[in-house]
Amino acid sequence: MLKSFLFFFAVALLAIACLPMQGRSPQQPPPPPASMPAPAPALAPPQTATTAPTAAVKNPVKPTAQSQAKAKALYQIDCAMCHGDNGNGKTDIATSMELTLDDWTDPKTLAGREDWELFNVIRVGKDKMPPESSGRATDNEVWNLIIYLRTFSKSQPPAAAPAQ
Ligand code: HEC
Repeated sequence: MLKSFLFFFAVALLAIACLPMQGRSPQQPPPPPASMPAPAPALAPPQTATTAPTAAVKNPVKPTAQSQAKAKALYQIDCAMCHGDNGNGKTDIATSMELTLDDWTDPKTLAGREDWELFNVIRVGKDKMPPESSGRATDNEVWNLIIYLRTFSKSQPPAAAPAQ
């Protein structure tokens, strides 16, 4: 007798506890009317303001044996899967992602491209080319990467300053 009373008491408590919750739900704010103006599109990718150089910027680094060794290591980790170990762009990923990659082993390919232009592509990304964030490579490391990319079209890498 007492047990069933307790049971009904518990059920009644539960029902009361649930009531205010049901009562609250219709009070949620109505959805905004469909005529709300769409937010203005961003004018430029956020990275460009801080890191992207312009035409006036020359490659500020002088390659050393160490900086080029670092560039090669970075290239092999972050770039070679698409652009290829020798920079010719003929990789399985390029084929499977249907990427149109330049052949950097041909001296004509990068001859007309300025370093700052390549810097922007690497930092900001372009189409399916992912950006290389400043967390993965410093500005100087990107400039060194560009010097490294340009060695693919030379049979011999350029003479680097001797290691200190
Ligand atoms: C997911 C594949 C992929 C990876 C990884 C990648 N790239 Fe690219 N890269 C591309 C594609 C695709 C383009 C062509 C973009 C375009 O012009 O539409 C490109 C273009 C470039 C260009 C512009 C010059 C040119 O030949 O078109 C440079 C420079 C470049 N990549 C450097 C790098 C460097 C350095 C890395 C590593 C930090 C890297 N890429 C990693 C796919 C990749």
